Amino acid sequence: MLWNSPLGEPHSDELLEHMKLSVTTSIVDLGCGWGELLLRAVARTGAKGTGVDTDNLALDRGKRAAQKKDVNVDFIRQSAADWQGTRDRAICIGSSHTLGGSRATLQRLAEIVPKGRVLVGDTFWEQQPTDVAREIHGDDIPMLIDLVTMCRETGWEILNLTTADQREWDSFESSHRAGLRQWIIENPESPKAQEIREHLDERERGYIMDYRGLLGFAYLVLGR
Ligand SMILES: C[S@@+](CC[C@H](N)C(=O)[O-])C[C@H]1O[C@@H](n2cnc3c(N)ncnc32)[C@H](O)[C@@H]1O
Repeated sequence: MLWNSPLGEPHSDELLEHMKLSVTTSIVDLGCGWGELLLRAVARTGAKGTGVDTDNLALDRGKRAAQKKDVNVDFIRQSAADWQGTRDRAICIGSSHTLGGSRATLQRLAEIVPKGRVLVGDTFWEQQPTDVAREIHGDDIPMLIDLVTMCRETGWEILNLTTADQREWDSFESSHRAGLRQWIIENPESPKAQEIREHLDERERGYIMDYRGLLGFAYLVLGR
């Protein structure tokens, strides 16, 4: 997996363009995972990056990649809610839960970036969700118009709004299972193969039947 969100590479390039980064820009990524997008942001501009996450394995992967690419990114193991500081730019993709949900994230980002731009990636419902979809993904997901309204209410100007397309979603969902699918192909006689296959089939069925085309993912470049 390149990153842990439904995002194609051309789309990611466009988003980074909208962030208007330069060599003097400081940027923090909250809930960065292994920070691939942050690393790319820094590599293309020379900006100074900080990645914050609680997952040691992801952070170690990010640190190794930063060394390999020779880019200036500090990876910090800390809860995003506890991270203190201000920056010129911030990224928070698929991680609004770490700051208390969509609205709380937008409010917190306004403190972290008093003047500048942020890139927020967050889920929304494309249509009114079914009970099953709500059960899987929770009650806190807004409709797109409500997410946009929250941005305005928290003092942000929306500079760019795009959403993950079906191909980005399908590719993201497949990537979660591809490693284990390949393992099954290579270990057909393993006693675990059938159990793993059933689990993967169930996850795949859930995606196709319960939330494909219903759960959306928005990328918002916001300014203040
Ligand atoms: C869906 S992933 C998104 C990762 C990354 N932003 C990306 O797009 O690839 C959510 C991330 O939030 C991290 N996370 C969960 N709880 C956290 C917390 N309290 N503080 C910081 N990160 C947290 C997870 O470890 C995971 O890397």
